Amino acid sequence: MNPSEMTKKIKARFPSNIALVKYWGKYGQQLPCNASLSLTLKNAYTSIEMEYKPKSNPDLDFKYFFEGKENIAFKDKVVKYAQAQAEFSEFLRNNAVIIHSSNSFPHSTGIASSAAAFATIAAVLLKAAQGDTDENKFLQTASHLARLGSGSACRSFYGPYALWGRLENLPESSNEYAIPILDIHENFADMRDAIVIVEDQPKQVSSTVGHSLMKNHPYAAARFEDANKHCEEMLEVLKYGNFESFISITEREALSLHAMMMTSGDYYMLMKPGTIQVIEAVMQFRKSTGLPVCFTLDAGPNVHILYPAAIQDEVKALLDKDISPLAKSIIMDEAGCGGQFL
Ligand code: DP6
Repeated sequence: MNPSEMTKKIKARFPSNIALVKYWGKYGQQLPCNASLSLTLKNAYTSIEMEYKPKSNPDLDFKYFFEGKENIAFKDKVVKYAQAQAEFSEFLRNNAVIIHSSNSFPHSTGIASSAAAFATIAAVLLKAAQGDTDENKFLQTASHLARLGSGSACRSFYGPYALWGRLENLPESSNEYAIPILDIHENFADMRDAIVIVEDQPKQVSSTVGHSLMKNHPYAAARFEDANKHCEEMLEVLKYGNFESFISITEREALSLHAMMMTSGDYYMLMKPGTIQVIEAVMQFRKSTGLPVCFTLDAGPNVHILYPAAIQDEVKALLDKDISPLAKSIIMDEAGCGGQFL
């Protein structure tokens, strides 16, 4: 048989997500100290084309290209991750693998690239290792495995909203994987996210370090309790369509996340002057128009402005007039429904 006939190909793309209730602090094997809840994005995704063919020698044969260039550092990270998962290690042992990966969004924009990357990596590896299985089971296993690469990645399999982490009143919730949130009021069915880039340099302190600083944080217990409460409240809000509560939970969560950074033992600050100016412009706009627009922040200085599609023209006027002068760029995104194989 011609060896090229044995080469198989899997193509997929899975998106990033923006947390409304934040995961910040973890224990054990990438288990969250509190539940988190996110909006799945649509335009910000990682695409992967993976080629693989059986091999007989025991040496690792794995190459990782990111945007056309071989990326050894990321390859090492992915190999370490994949070899640690029983589901993937045999596949890696028995196959020569080449991954070509790219992102639909620029670097250092505050879009969680590790969420999109690990969701897509877990999805293609699982598909290759397992073949076709029941879709719900596949998504749950992929979410579980993606979590072991990057916590927030586990939420990227479902949309427009996903919940990760055990909540007492929700028996199907789990610390191991995310679950879809199905009961969504029409007010929140079509949300938009204008991602305002105020800083496009890599951040000074990684999320991994940030999570670890929650270990001895004086406010940790209160923060974890608060976040779980916010998840429970947000589930109700999404169900009944209350914008006012959506806004107050979302903004309070963003500021709590940054307050944790600013009050940890090794304190630090990721917000920039432009971050505060954009937040103030959003709050001012909301006050003067009464429209349901709010902000959230990732672990970085860039601001996500969230609003329903129904008011996109009014928000565009805000972006053009008041926000653009403060921004390096603005990336327009919206709620998505998860990833896909192509
Ligand atoms: C602020 O998922 O990037 O975006 O599990 O170490 O990969 P690791 O961390 P990561 O942390 C995300 C933190 C956050 C909040 C969130 O997405 O919930």
